[in-house]
Amino acid sequence: MGGLWLFFLFTYVVKKKLVVLTGAGVSAESGMSTFRDADGLWNNYRVEDVATPEGFARNPKLVLDFYNDLHNSLQTLKPNYGHIGLAELEEYFDVRVITQNVDNLHEAAGSHNVLHLHGELTKYASVRNPETPIEWPFGENLELGDKAEDGSQKRPFIVWFGEGVPNISLAAEWAKEADIFLVIGTSLAVYPAAGLLGYVDNAVPVYLIDPKPVKSPYNHAITAIQKGASEGMRELIEILKRKHLNI
Ligand code: APR
Repeated sequence: MGGLWLFFLFTYVVKKKLVVLTGAGVSAESGMSTFRDADGLWNNYRVEDVATPEGFARNPKLVLDFYNDLHNSLQTLKPNYGHIGLAELEEYFDVRVITQNVDNLHEAAGSHNVLHLHGELTKYASVRNPETPIEWPFGENLELGDKAEDGSQKRPFIVWFGEGVPNISLAAEWAKEADIFLVIGTSLAVYPAAGLLGYVDNAVPVYLIDPKPVKSPYNHAITAIQKGASEGMRELIEILKRKHLNI
């Protein structure tokens, strides 16, 4: 009887921690551009122009317009099954989503534990306090000369290249605690995010969904599902149910 009860406790009450690292690819089917694919953002814009503090100092209007457009585009985007499947998995797992994305599609899909490493397009900040987010309502653009309450120029709440990544410590804690680790739609080209896999115990099963082969800098045995986020998520859920939930 005691054994049965323990089985119930571990299967249904103590949920395994499913820690997920997502990148631009999870939002591609929702209409958000990736960065390094052939039609990616970094083929149309120079990183140093729109994603560095130096670029902002040089041409703030260009940078504000770039993020105003992205912010406005969020209003029409809908989560795809890559996002929705992760939210559904909360029924079975303690799901923690670490995302490099600045869109709000994981939240829109219903995920409850989302940690943004590179900022959020639904928030702005100020030049003096770039790490303090303020809600950025739709319908408002950030203009040159707009001041935040601290008196300095408003800027997007985005972590630019060369800036600190304050959420990386908590993300590393989550990665260390993972029972299962999942990577979706990231080329693993940008650190420190790509280094999170290094915190994942070697015995932890790692799954990866991406239509292209992605090379991990670490030695985990990775189960790769070489498909887009929606189709890959459907396949992954079947595997997780079979291998980790016995259902
Ligand atoms: N489903 C899943 N993955 C996809 C899909 C799709 N439908 N389409 C493309 N991908 C994959 C690509 O094959 C690629 O491996 O998504 C990945 C996107 O990689 P990048 O464009 O490099 O984006 P990401 O890894 O998120 O970039 C990291 O770089 O410039 C920065 O700050 C920016 O957060 C971003 C960081």
